[in-house]
Amino acid sequence: MKLFVDTGNIKDIEALASLGIIDGVTTNPSLLAKEPGDFRENLKRICAIVRGPVSGEVIATDFDGMMREGQEIAALDPYMVVKLPLTRNGIRACKALSSEGIRVNVTLVFSAAQALLAAKAGATFVSPFVGRLDDIATNGMELIREIVEIYDNYEFTTEVLVASCRHPIHIVEAARLGADICTCPPAVIDQMFNHPLTTSGLERFLKDWEKVQAALTTK
Ligand code: G3P
Repeated sequence: MKLFVDTGNIKDIEALASLGIIDGVTTNPSLLAKEPGDFRENLKRICAIVRGPVSGEVIATDFDGMMREGQEIAALDPYMVVKLPLTRNGIRACKALSSEGIRVNVTLVFSAAQALLAAKAGATFVSPFVGRLDDIATNGMELIREIVEIYDNYEFTTEVLVASCRHPIHIVEAARLGADICTCPPAVIDQMFNHPLTTSGLERFLKDWEKVQAALTTK
């Protein structure tokens, strides 16, 4: 399963990319609005750091505006992916941009029926939001199970990009269900590293080895 980082923060992306575990980046208008500087330049820098798919979202809600902004985003860098919301205009623009060879990530997906529309419109990625469904007492992971099943039934090539991940259990469950990608905030990826037995085990190994060192120096 591929791991994307869900942020527009260049420092966080650099730190995680240096570990060699990041396959791409997703952004949205809320995330980019938090970062200083020109968002286009920031997206280009992110592409140069991760060298993998980087999603940038359109702001327009009309078809012509989505097409224009989508083409501008795609022209920033070959790694750019155009993020479009699951609306009628978004699906229409997805079909048109995908036909031009531009990769599209259909976002704000909350049902299997919507995911089916994204696949039919030729989306490269579909982004179901699991955390926001959990927030309204609806099982987000159940949606991932349904989408993976439907895409497998018909061999759709659209990749399931699990978004709105809030904790490592979301990532593990997504991997167990066979989702293609999880996108998570940097803090959630950090949490994946942590286990108290790793920390205490390492402490004990190092402490025991100190005794060997001490014995060697007293010889
Ligand atoms: O980029 C979309 C996304 O992952 C949103 O996450 O935490 O705002 O629901 P969140």
